[in-house]
Amino acid sequence: MKPSLDQFFFGRPIRTTLRPWTAILFASLLLLVLSFIPIKNFNPSLFLFPSYSSSSSSSSPSLEINNKERSKESRIECNIFKGEWVPDPEAPFYTNKTCWTIQEYQNCMKYGRPDTEFYRWRWKPEDCELQRFDPAIFLEMVREKSMAFVGDSLARNHMQSLMCMLSKVAYPKDVSTNSDPNFQHMYYSEYNFTISMLWSPFLIKAQQVDTEGPNGTGLWDLYLDEADDHWLSEIKSYDYVIISGGNWFTRPSKFFVEKKLIGCHYCLLNNVTDLTLRYSHRAAFKTAFSAINSMADFKGKVFLRTVSPTHYENGEWNKGGDCVRRRPYLTSEVKFEWLDEEFYRVQVEEFLKAEMEGKNKGVEFRLMDTTGVMLLRPDGHPSRYGHWKHENVTLHNDCVHWCLPGPIDTWTDFLFHMLS
Ligand SMILES: *[C@@H]1O[C@H](CO)[C@@H](O)[C@H](O)[C@H]1NC(C)=O
Ligand SMILES: *[C@@H]1O[C@H](CO)[C@@H](O)[C@H](O)[C@H]1NC(C)=O
Ligand SMILES: *[C@@H]1O[C@H](CO)[C@@H](O)[C@H](O)[C@H]1NC(C)=O
Ligand SMILES: *[C@@H]1O[C@H](CO)[C@@H](O)[C@H](O)[C@H]1NC(C)=O
Ligand SMILES: *[C@@H]1O[C@H](CO)[C@@H](O)[C@H](O)[C@H]1NC(C)=O
Repeated sequence: MKPSLDQFFFGRPIRTTLRPWTAILFASLLLLVLSFIPIKNFNPSLFLFPSYSSSSSSSSPSLEINNKERSKESRIECNIFKGEWVPDPEAPFYTNKTCWTIQEYQNCMKYGRPDTEFYRWRWKPEDCELQRFDPAIFLEMVREKSMAFVGDSLARNHMQSLMCMLSKVAYPKDVSTNSDPNFQHMYYSEYNFTISMLWSPFLIKAQQVDTEGPNGTGLWDLYLDEADDHWLSEIKSYDYVIISGGNWFTRPSKFFVEKKLIGCHYCLLNNVTDLTLRYSHRAAFKTAFSAINSMADFKGKVFLRTVSPTHYENGEWNKGGDCVRRRPYLTSEVKFEWLDEEFYRVQVEEFLKAEMEGKNKGVEFRLMDTTGVMLLRPDGHPSRYGHWKHENVTLHNDCVHWCLPGPIDTWTDFLFHMLS
């Protein structure tokens, strides 16, 4: 069942149904032609707005205006998210010796990853150069400011990458109010700059009600119309808020609106309608964005960092799947898998609506469009190098997170570009 050498080095054969750049370039167009794209298991009724949202019925016309504005902008500006990975002899910019914030499971070199190619690539946008991250300039830009990473372990992965990229110039002090790494606050005293992790894998209020659930992965109660107060109550004073999510919506869950059970995702209860994760995922982003737009006196900038794709091959995550490729794909070699495509499209759609609404409210939304970029990096995950080989852990091959150093450092380059 191992992929052949050809597959290792030359990528998957092209069976393109929807190429990433097609999706990225024409994300806005997709909105309009949505109902004509055949997608496996596609059920148009699931894309209807959740019924509790009364304001969304008028959003379609304004979306079109919004898209025109975007395409006008993109004619003069380079789309930094459209390009290819090219070799980078200057990398890496830190190692596990110069950066102490690498989390164990992403410290791939420590756990014996034999190859080093995977951190020797840089992202080259088609029509311009992505300037190299400069920690000194970055720290000047964020002087007196604060940045929150809201989301799951990939938000934390990103935050740790940023701290490593800054480590040449400054180290932060841990000023967390407790020892919970999910709510870590780091402070760069010379710059009066704070970065925080605000753990909220669903973005909405969520509670694990059963650790077993229907399939051993637990069962969650999700309150689709209530943004998670763990981040909502915190972000008011923040200058930059980076929102992300996706993968947790695959977990079995029950859905509540106005505290009433309305359906579920894979709960396997006879009397509860399975609305699937499409319903909860869209509702969560809608609720999160609209909560931000409803906040009084929020003056920060909001970034959506789009879903980070996984790269399991030859099996699912819990069925022996792995990611063993050793080089990036070319854009011509990949296609979106259906779940990544679904997550990505819905997040961009909800982002565009929120961005439009934000314009009226004075909240600036920015799209950190990394999904297609990372889709090209099956070689950047820890795989089995996230822990010792002899350790008997229930960790499977990790094709979700990203090694540090590694391709995720490019998210920090994007951040640098977007703040410049
Ligand atoms: C860093 O990686 C090397 C292998 O390149 C490993 O021997 C060492 O233990 C690691 N150190 C830390 C602090 O993780
Ligand atoms: C640090 O920055 C915050 C704004 O983020 C400001 O309110 C505070 O006064 C600054 N503190 C110092 C010591 O400059
Ligand atoms: C749930 O568990 C059963 C029995 O172990 C298995 O047959 C089924 O495929 C599992 N379903 C999912 C979605 O993992
Ligand atoms: C569904 O059935 C279970 C067990 O039969 C019961 O406890 C629960 O109240 C029912 N839920 C609804 C929404 O009717
Ligand atoms: C790992 O743990 C499982 C369950 O506790 C056990 O069945 C298995 O034999 C262990 N494997 C090793 C290599 O120790």
